[in-house]
Parts: sequence; structure tokens; C-alpha cells
Amino acid sequence: MAFVYSPRLALLAAFLLSASCFSAFLGTTSAGITRRYEFIIKKQNVTRLCHTKSMVTVNGKFPGPRIIAREGDRVLVKVVNLVSNNISIHWHGIRQLRSGWADGPAYVTQCPIQTNQSYVYNFTITGQRGTLFWHAHISWLRATVYGPLIILPKRNVPYPFPKPHKEVPMIFGEWFNADPEAVISQALQTGAGPNVSEAYTINGLPGPLYNCSASDTFKLKVKPGKTYLLRLINAALNDELFFSIANHSLTVVEADALYVKPFPTDILLIAPGQTTNVLLKTKADPPMTTYLMAARPYFTGQGTFDNTTMAGILEYVTARPRHSAMNSKNLTLLLPFLPPINATNVVANFSQKFRSLANAQYPANVPQTVEKRFFFTVGLGTSPCPKNQTCQGPNGTKFAASVNNVSFALPSTALLQSYFFRKSNGVFTNDFPTTPLIPFNYTGTPPNNTMVINGTKVVVLPFNTSVELVMQDASILGAESHPLHLHGFNFFVVGQGFGNFDPNKDPPKFNLVDPVERNTVAVPSGGWVAIRFLADNPGVWFMHCHFEVHISWGLRMAWIVLDGSLPSQKLPPPPSDLPKC
Ligand code: C2O
Repeated sequence: MAFVYSPRLALLAAFLLSASCFSAFLGTTSAGITRRYEFIIKKQNVTRLCHTKSMVTVNGKFPGPRIIAREGDRVLVKVVNLVSNNISIHWHGIRQLRSGWADGPAYVTQCPIQTNQSYVYNFTITGQRGTLFWHAHISWLRATVYGPLIILPKRNVPYPFPKPHKEVPMIFGEWFNADPEAVISQALQTGAGPNVSEAYTINGLPGPLYNCSASDTFKLKVKPGKTYLLRLINAALNDELFFSIANHSLTVVEADALYVKPFPTDILLIAPGQTTNVLLKTKADPPMTTYLMAARPYFTGQGTFDNTTMAGILEYVTARPRHSAMNSKNLTLLLPFLPPINATNVVANFSQKFRSLANAQYPANVPQTVEKRFFFTVGLGTSPCPKNQTCQGPNGTKFAASVNNVSFALPSTALLQSYFFRKSNGVFTNDFPTTPLIPFNYTGTPPNNTMVINGTKVVVLPFNTSVELVMQDASILGAESHPLHLHGFNFFVVGQGFGNFDPNKDPPKFNLVDPVERNTVAVPSGGWVAIRFLADNPGVWFMHCHFEVHISWGLRMAWIVLDGSLPSQKLPPPPSDLPKC
């Protein structure tokens, strides 16, 4: 049975979608069905903070439509590009087993879809259930082109936690009064950091703490004494976010579409690219009708950032009328407590709490032995200023970013095509450094030379290689947290720490029993993180910081996973409608 997105679902009220409402859209077999969607990329006028702008959207919606499927389903999304920009869409966190052609990053797995062209993304959701999202994967178009991607468990398979009364996707974003494409192109031109956003949003709405925004407030209407599943997604461009609901505790049950051992928390941190499912148990007899929920950034870098707070309202719908905080003057008193902007200790404590369920039904298949080890520095650096130009980056240079000092240059064709058709000459080379070429004190005094090198270099892995990758924050231009996202895989976060990784002292402390499994992990500010994954998915897989500005500066690279010997271990040829460059 096909589910075609209905515009009415975009109404705010529709975000309060009940479980019973979900089932109306779903088929009746457990074998998996095909769900078809149509995404028309078109311009739409949207007004926030008293600024109206024409933005690139899917089907005229901001945020975009929600994709709902069950584990085992095949999803077909026909994307039709009716704007002047090139476009591509990424299904963030979908494993894309042997369907790398549908992954979406422009110039990595496909050429972008040009104006008046279309492409059908075709993938099957295997062994995954939970909350993910989709977003544009070219330049900064994901600022407005994004939406939830919800994978329900197979029919008759319950959640490993109490069945919620309702499920509510809450997707965080960033609002720019200016055109985000102009913001990044200006920054790349001058070499300076880009202008920051004006507001953060929940489901596209900034909330009452901004000027001219009170009517654009997300309201979560709840009944007393019920359990709600909040599907939290950080689709913001450049900011990790703290989130909290005043006077309410939350229970974390899932991260990046993988169940975790439940744990309670008052404050969440979600990095761009991460998703977190939480249970909200509403009060049986709430003293107030309304409570604020709020989010603001965690920021450790050196530059400017959007230091504003977005808020939404948790509203109890009860029989008896109650005192409404919104009508009183002491609104700010009811803001939930959020940690200081640079509370790295709070972040470290929070991230340590995530553990895989690691039970018989949901095992943690952590690679116990490692065939290939990698050590990557991630961080900022500089590029020379072109002659006859003045640049506004550090000391008159341009900002750059790198992995092992390689700032990744996107090719003008797609890596996956050039790999698959054996035409890699002049497109990419196989010599991505497995360790830094010039070691230094990564979290100490920066080296004199901060210049990155530019290249399109990849790592090639034989099929089924077990990989351990340590990612080290290189504080060349200051320590900074970097949310690293790997396409095509989930990985286990086996260890993390502050300072420089110690290859002798740190590995014995790794958790190989129940480490959290996810697709995006924040490399701690001034620290390191170690991950393990099995390279069991043939194709070309992008890995990058999920801060859009760092991607633009080159904090990105790609892995090529070769075919295995069996037919079921090979990447099939591309679909006939794959866009051409
Ligand atoms: Cu959500 Cu390559 O990104």
C-alpha cells in the first residue's frame, strides 16, 4: 500500500500523531511493503521573525514532509527538481545495504539532480527501527530542506519500553533571515566564518523568546498521567543543542534509530545529525497548565555563534481550567534550567550514559578483533589567501578544515560512478593518510604551519574488514566539539576521553560489551573518540563533521568498501535514471 504525503499533515496539529493514526497508513503484511513518496523541490514564501523569504522546500513545506515506514519496507521517493539550484537528498542514518546509489551526498554517490530533472531514490530498510531524518546534501540547502524519517518496528513487534500514548516528532532547525546559500558563498569568498542564524526552531517554529515570533510557537498538547514518545532530531546546521522541559524529567530510550538501555535525564544534548527518542511521562495532577521547553547551543569554538534560545510550550489539556503561565508576567521564571554554553563536563557525563541494549533480541555485535586501525585528526586550519585579495580568516588567511590535514575537495563528477566504472583517474586517489603525516601535540601548542592540503583522497577497505577509528580533536585554532557522521554504517563508540589519545593506556579501557551504536558521534572538545565498525556494505561512504560550515571548509573524506566475492556482497549497477553531472 502506498502512502502519499497529504498537505494536511503539515499542520501543526498533525505533529501530534497518535500511534493509532500511524496504523491507518500501514499495510497489513509483515513481509514489508513498498511506500511511494513524491518530493517536488520548489520555492515557497515563508515568514518567521517578521521576515518573509522565498526558500527551497519539498512540496512547499517547512519543515518538509514526514516519511513513515516500517522495518523491512521498501521506500521509493521520486524527487523532482523545479528550482534553479541543483539538489540531492540524503536519508540520514539509513544503512543503504547494497543501495549506495540512493544515499544522496552530491558528488559522492551521485551527481546532483539538475533543474527540471528527477531521480527516484530506492532503498529497503533492513534491520533498523526508530527515528532518523532526511535532508538535502548539497551546499547549505539542508537549512530548509529537511524532515523526519520514522521507522516503526515490524508489525506486532513491540517497543522494548512501555507503549506510548502518542508519538511526536520534534525536529530542531536553524532559521536565517538571509538566504543560507548567500551566507556560505560569501564566507567561502572572504575566508571568514559565516554569518550565524537568527533563531533556532522546533518543527520550524522559533517560539516566544524571539521578537515577532509569539504566534510561531510549537505547542505540545498532552493529557495528564500519560507517556509520550518524543522523537527528537537535530537538523540545525551548525549547532549542538541542549534541550530541557521545565519541571519534567525524560527517559532516553533510543539514539540514531538504535534502542539504548533506558536512563533518566533532565537535560539532553543533541548534536546535528543525531536523533534521540525520549519518553515523557506527564504529571498526574499538574500544578500548572503550561511549561516551557527550551533549547540553546553547546558551543566550544572560537568564533561567533547564534546565542539565542528557542522555546515551545508543553500544554496540559485537562478538564478543570488551571492557571496558565503564559498569561502571567513571569514567563522567564518557568524556563527550564539549561547548562552554560560551554559546559563540556555536562556533555561528557551525558554522552557516557548511552549504552546499547545488548540483549538477545537486540545484540551489540561489536567487532572484538580489529583488522585495520586508523587515527584521524579532525579540526580547523587555514588556506592561503588568493593573490590580489584580502581575506578575513585567521591572520589574513581563509578558514579551512580537515581530516589528517587533508581538506577534502569534492570532484566535479560523483565518486561512486567513477569507482564503479573504473574511471577514477583524475577524480580521486587511494592515498588518504591512515595517521597524521606530521604528528604534533594535538591538544597542546598548535604547530607553526596551520595550512591544510587539498585533495580528493579516499581509504579503500576490503569487504568485511573490521575497522577501529580513533578521531582526535586537533585544537589548531582552538578546541572544538565535532559531530562526525559516517554514511552507510552504524558504529560502536568503544571509548572516549580528553587530551591526546594514548594508544597504550586507552584501548584496555574500551567497552566492547555494550557500547552505544550510532551513526553520528561528537568528538569531544579537546579530546578523542574511538569507534569500531564492520565494513560489510560495498560502496563509497562519506564521513564528515555534521556542522555544515565545517563540511564546506573540507572536514570530510570518503571510504570505499570493495565488493565481496558472493553475489550478495556486491554493489549492483546504478539505476537508469541516476543523474549525470
Ligand atoms: Cu546528515 Cu552526510 O549527512
